[in-house]
Amino acid sequence: MEGQIRTEVLKTVPYGFYITGVIGANGEANGFTTCWVSQVSFEPQQVVVAVRKDQHTHDLMESGGVFSLNFLSTDQEELARKFTEPLDNDAGTVGGSAYTTGEATGAPLFDEAFAHLECRIVNKMEAGDHTVYLGEVASAALKRPADILTDLDTPMDYGG
Ligand SMILES: Cc1cc2nc3c(=O)[nH]c(=O)nc-3n(C[C@H](O)[C@H](O)[C@H](O)COP(=O)(O)O)c2cc1C
Repeated sequence: MEGQIRTEVLKTVPYGFYITGVIGANGEANGFTTCWVSQVSFEPQQVVVAVRKDQHTHDLMESGGVFSLNFLSTDQEELARKFTEPLDNDAGTVGGSAYTTGEATGAPLFDEAFAHLECRIVNKMEAGDHTVYLGEVASAALKRPADILTDLDTPMDYGG
């Protein structure tokens, strides 16, 4: 009973939606929908992202040491949904989504995002079934004005 309430309360925490871009030490680029993200330092500017340990993209994040956060807008629910599935890197796209290679980190930057951050991993912490990566912001771009997609805009959820 109390467990159910814990789950319900945890589900009320609001999140923005991003595609985390990763590139493994072997050069494989990929990405996945992520909402467990937060800024945690002003100086230097640092963010955390929690990545489930049993995901393929966790291995790429672990070996590559970098990631990008690609910000999704309120009209991009379908894109967010696509990146919750394992996707192949095919002809310079991830699941058909084009990307360029970040100059600061080499992490993939997805064209469809309205903004992105490139981050270098400077620390990490075990968190049960996830690893929390601390990333230092190395570069940023704002490509168009937009509002970020959040879990308040869609029935998609992660948490509890
Ligand atoms: C709304 C939503 C948010 C998600 N947020 C996260 C997250 O913050 N961290 C994470 O590791 N997985 C998250 N996921 C799960 C991944 O997007 C999903 O497991 C993806 O398939 C992982 O890619 P991979 O299988 O290629 O490694 C989320 C899924 C959904 C539906």
